[in-house]
Amino acid sequence: MILILLGAPGAGKGTQAQRLQDKHGLIQLSTGDMLRSAVSEGTEIGLKAKAVMERGDLVSDDIMTGIISDRLDQPDCTNGVILDGFPRTEAQAEALDSMLADKKMSLNAVIEMKTDDTVLVERVTGRYTCANCGAGYHDKFLKPAEEGVCDKCGGNEFSRRSDDTAETVTTRLQSYHNQTAPLLPYYKGKGILKQVDGMAEIEEVTLQIEALLKNI
Ligand code: AP5
Ligand code: MG
Repeated sequence: MILILLGAPGAGKGTQAQRLQDKHGLIQLSTGDMLRSAVSEGTEIGLKAKAVMERGDLVSDDIMTGIISDRLDQPDCTNGVILDGFPRTEAQAEALDSMLADKKMSLNAVIEMKTDDTVLVERVTGRYTCANCGAGYHDKFLKPAEEGVCDKCGGNEFSRRSDDTAETVTTRLQSYHNQTAPLLPYYKGKGILKQVDGMAEIEEVTLQIEALLKNI
């Protein structure tokens, strides 16, 4: 199964993709996470992406489609993937269609996580992640059971993203509305667009996605 989670910054793509990975064994392909790893490793792609990401702009289509095409060829992807953060432009969506056709794979559904812009700054600026296992948390909306201890791995070091500032979120939101939201009619036209209420509580969003998956 190949699913796309489509939504604004802070809509909950990463949160729900982690849950889908844990429950269904699908592999979360987060292009944001891949780029952040490339930046911290100082690879050629990382060097190109760093300043772009810190501004909240989009990294070039060529780089992104190359990363996803290579990743889909790896053996763990044969059971299915959740695309989290890709595609983000019409050029990326078209490139995805042709790479999936070449690889004899097909897209099952695109799930739009619908949110109001008003909640997204609070979501993004309150976000933090376990430095050991990458589990995601929020200062207000998703706290670990024991403060300062990761529920998943027991780790006690956490990190915050350098692009999670109120200013950068505004630019990221503009990129979303100008370049990514036009993909909604593109996928609607293909008859594979589904929607969930990204304003609902995290658990409720998970239930809505699970309900959709039953019919896919
Ligand atoms: P990326 O990492 O993809 O960032 P993004 O799209 O801005 O999305 P986020 O990761 O901020 O949000 P999310 O929807 O995953 O929210 P989360 O679940 O964490 O991309 C970063 C950058 O990389 C881009 O700006 C760009 O430069 C570059 N890039 C990446 N892909 C690219 C591409 N394809 N092309 C070009 N450039 C690319 O949730 C947020 C917080 O809210 C969490 O703390 C969570 O606990 C909480 N939360 C989640 N759901 C709820 C809920 N329902 N209620 C309350 N709180 C919630
Ligand atoms: Mg994310």
